[in-house]
Amino acid sequence: MELFSSSNINFDALRRKAFNFRWAEVEDGVIPLTAADPDFPVAPEIIGAITDYLSDGYLSYTPKLGMPQLRKAIAEDLCSRKNEGVTEDLVLPVDSAARGMYIIAGAVLEPGDEAIVMDPVDYLFKNSVMTAGGVPVYYPVSPDKEIDFEDLEDYITPKTRMFCLCNPHNPLGKVYSEKTLEKLLDVCEKHGLWIMNDEIWSDMILGEKPFVSINSLGGEKNKKTLSVYGFSKAYGLAGLRVGCIYCRDREVFDRLVDASGVLTTAGGVSSLSQVAALAAITKARYWSEAFTDHLRGNARYAVKRLSAMPGIKAYMPDATYIMWLDVRDTGLSSQQFTDFMQEKVKLALVPGSEKMFGPGAEGCVRMCLATGREVLTEGLDRLEKGLEMLRRGE
Ligand SMILES: Cc1ncc(COP(=O)(O)O)c(C=O)c1O
Repeated sequence: MELFSSSNINFDALRRKAFNFRWAEVEDGVIPLTAADPDFPVAPEIIGAITDYLSDGYLSYTPKLGMPQLRKAIAEDLCSRKNEGVTEDLVLPVDSAARGMYIIAGAVLEPGDEAIVMDPVDYLFKNSVMTAGGVPVYYPVSPDKEIDFEDLEDYITPKTRMFCLCNPHNPLGKVYSEKTLEKLLDVCEKHGLWIMNDEIWSDMILGEKPFVSINSLGGEKNKKTLSVYGFSKAYGLAGLRVGCIYCRDREVFDRLVDASGVLTTAGGVSSLSQVAALAAITKARYWSEAFTDHLRGNARYAVKRLSAMPGIKAYMPDATYIMWLDVRDTGLSSQQFTDFMQEKVKLALVPGSEKMFGPGAEGCVRMCLATGREVLTEGLDRLEKGLEMLRRGE
């Protein structure tokens, strides 16, 4: 059986286990193209590694800074595939990329400090900043043009401490060029800003444009770059809550460790999740690459179908497995659009609400592509039918 064929999807399991707006949370019959979480089972090597680890019956504490073999594997992977120049002693496994963002914000922001947050972008940026007592300042970004950061300084005040970079970008699906990232580094260096650099989507490159990590642009320049990676997207491990944070400077790393709570055991990653993450990097790259090929096909198919649907403007993502749809021409707000589709044609999408993505998301909705082609086709058929009903005023 092909890994990413529709027949490899276990819908019964998904209805029992896939939460966060997905199969286990929607009404029977609804197709959820919502949270960015694959419909496919994980690589068998990951299951094998968890089972092996369990076989002697011990689930003791792990090293406080994470299993050394995992830290080493992460550093090697980041260096060999993305040229990030990271060393294993400056990699900290944490219990999800989301947690990593909260740790970074908590480590560098004081109450009242401002952090520049792209708009739209995943809500975790704004929420992590606010939880640290910081104030998010929105920097508008758009799906149809590269950011040039020429006007970034207009958003910087004496209180600005950090810029939050999502590269590749959720929900716009963009990867940013070397030139753009150089410019960002220059401005941040000039104003002494930290960079929260989230690269959780960096394995799912769909287009011709290569992924460039800001960390590859030079060690010295990246002294204040604090990076996040996670295993939910590329390996389907969202339920295991595992990711990592890493940086280039020992003192900064110690700050992150303090903020993470791992030294007191209040923070840290479960042993099984670390074992799974290690197996993902060392044994399941083939799975992630085949998954990306499948997603590339899904994205091309979806763009083709969507471009024939009046009222919708779709953007081919450079990366990620989400698609950002501009629905303003339908005359509905984001929320009205998703409510309509859910009620009339049983298709669940994510509204471009301020809560999920920031004020600049209004008028758009997000669609997840991480499913089999049959489910995607049915989802797009439903969307087409819904648009037709909308036009007829039904
Ligand atoms: C940009 C970005 N960062 C972080 C996360 C959170 O990932 P995790 O499941 O590892 O917490 C997501 C999940 O959608 C994301 O899109």
